[in-house]
Amino acid sequence: MGVFSTGGVGIDLGSANVTICLENEGVVLREPSYVLTLRDDIDEIIAVGRDARQMLGRTPKDCTLLSPVQDGAVANVELTTAMLRRLSEKALGKRRALEKNRLVVSMSQGATRVERNALEEAVHAAGARRAALVRTSIAAAVGAGIPIEEPRGFLLVTIGGSTTEVCVMSMNGVVAARTMRTGSLALDEAIVRYIRREKKLIIGQRTAEDLKIDLGNAVLNPNLSKEKVALRGRDALSGKPSTVDITAEDIHKALLPPLENLVEDIRDAFENIPPELAEDILPNGLYLSGGGAQLEGLSDRLGELLHLNILVHENPQDDTALGACLIAANERLAQKLALSGCLIEV
Ligand SMILES: Nc1ncnc2c1ncn2[C@@H]1O[C@H](COP(=O)(O)OP(=O)(O)OP(=O)(O)O)[C@@H](O)[C@H]1O
Ligand SMILES: [Mg+2]
Repeated sequence: MGVFSTGGVGIDLGSANVTICLENEGVVLREPSYVLTLRDDIDEIIAVGRDARQMLGRTPKDCTLLSPVQDGAVANVELTTAMLRRLSEKALGKRRALEKNRLVVSMSQGATRVERNALEEAVHAAGARRAALVRTSIAAAVGAGIPIEEPRGFLLVTIGGSTTEVCVMSMNGVVAARTMRTGSLALDEAIVRYIRREKKLIIGQRTAEDLKIDLGNAVLNPNLSKEKVALRGRDALSGKPSTVDITAEDIHKALLPPLENLVEDIRDAFENIPPELAEDILPNGLYLSGGGAQLEGLSDRLGELLHLNILVHENPQDDTALGACLIAANERLAQKLALSGCLIEV
């Protein structure tokens, strides 16, 4: 190992979270993809990640909370750079910062050339010297332990905050892929709308996400908890603080329409897969990855509607960062992925 080869680092730069995985250590950091800046001068950064997110919905007047990564792509290079630099220093320590490591960052499947250039610029500006970009689905597949080098097709669906990627892979390459610019965040928005419409209560996005994670379920279960949870918010008519009762069944109802859309999108993408590959996929099943895969009952619902066996890795939200790190640590694998166009040295 040379002076600079201190180890592989994998970063999943998502629109909801930045996840960092280190060789021999695993996932060491996941923080929300937010930057808090001064309203009049967005170069003046006050906080990033978790510290910034805590201000969501309670941002002081002279501050603004920004998401530098949107729809899976870099929307603001300077802010993404600052976020990458600060969070990687937090994960690695200042002495071992990005310049000393081999870095692999995941890149959205649907990234346009402009989006890719923005990511490349941010990666360099954050201090990385030996870096590569890898397609998110490939990184997630490697992280989930899918044997993508084999000459048969594998189907992976990665549900992030703002994107869902349906990808068929074979022999270290992508055979067919589709990126939808909608993800688990759409479920939070559906909860906000439902509670406003049906309960006349206004709640924030953070509360909606908590409800999704704590009470959300994709399967209508007759024994579904009828237990009521007191939910605080603002009355939609008077604007005054108010409390209403919510059940898991309410949240299930709120989630149904966006979940149906998701299933339709996956079904649509699946129906466009070449028949030979579809034949491979039937016995293998569908691999589900990303933070959105953790929704209670989702794999059952997808299995039932798509008539496929659904496989979910133990920590699906870690798959992409873990895979990027495994690729960073494995030069031969990186070379094979570069040959199939799934990895770009930058
Ligand atoms: N237990 C859970 N149940 C349901 N949803 C969850 C759970 N845990 C996390 N999520 C959702 O997963 C999403 C984040 O997933 P992930 O970290 O994979 O996204 P991302 O990679 O940042 O986004 P993208 O890939 O779209 O850029 C959030 O919307 C979050 O609410
Ligand atoms: Mg992601």
